[in-house]
Amino acid sequence: MRKNVIAGNWKMNKTLSEAEDFIEATKTKIPSSDKAEAIVCAPALYLTELVKRTEGTDLKIAAQTMHYEENGAFTGEISPAALKSVGVEYAVIGHSERREYYNETDETVNKKTHAAFKYGITPIVCIGETLEEREADKTNEVVGGQVEKALEGLSADQVSNLILAYEPVWAIGTGKTATAQQANEVCAFIRNVVKEKVSAEAAEGVRIQYGGSVKPANVDELLSESDIDGALVGGASLEADSFLALVEAGS
Ligand code: G3H
Repeated sequence: MRKNVIAGNWKMNKTLSEAEDFIEATKTKIPSSDKAEAIVCAPALYLTELVKRTEGTDLKIAAQTMHYEENGAFTGEISPAALKSVGVEYAVIGHSERREYYNETDETVNKKTHAAFKYGITPIVCIGETLEEREADKTNEVVGGQVEKALEGLSADQVSNLILAYEPVWAIGTGKTATAQQANEVCAFIRNVVKEKVSAEAAEGVRIQYGGSVKPANVDELLSESDIDGALVGGASLEADSFLALVEAGS
């Protein structure tokens, strides 16, 4: 039985005091459940403080991106070693906004995924097609290629332990959610790619989230699908009550 992963991605939102208020309002209300884990992906600047504030609770803190090198002349970047040193346990890798605006490629996603495992960080690897690609009937080709490249060189055990987030780019922040059936079809396809390219055990273990306009009103339907193991949520994760409702749905 795979555990749901409900992750709120704040993106570039919240001041420090807003972030602290959110964490104080939610951290003791996360149900201790073997059915779900709850994660907040916070701006890098707040990671140290939020990790400290959530110690000993069921709320976990993730970075929204990271570099693949341990250190070096990469002005403005944050290394996996630095994340680990402040207690960060998860990192989002290859979000479509990073791919679109910051030159993230399948190659850097693969390097970052390897680096995350090297430092004991669980990667949340994002993949997804654009509207143009969906309309050209290229969803499986695009998503399958992204998955295959992201996972290149990883062991079956590592793949079993990572999280994939299927986020159709056309559904992010647009209010347009893929129907539960559309989302599940692609998640099932992704699981099959993992089965063919890695192993049946890895396919059985890997958690696949759906992301794209998920909110309390549609999360139950999405999570009831066979191959959807959680949600990566942007807008609807910014308010404490809404985030708690999403976590509750996954628990
Ligand atoms: O990382 C989260 C996704 O990009 C989804 O964002 O829930 O605002 O559509 P959204």
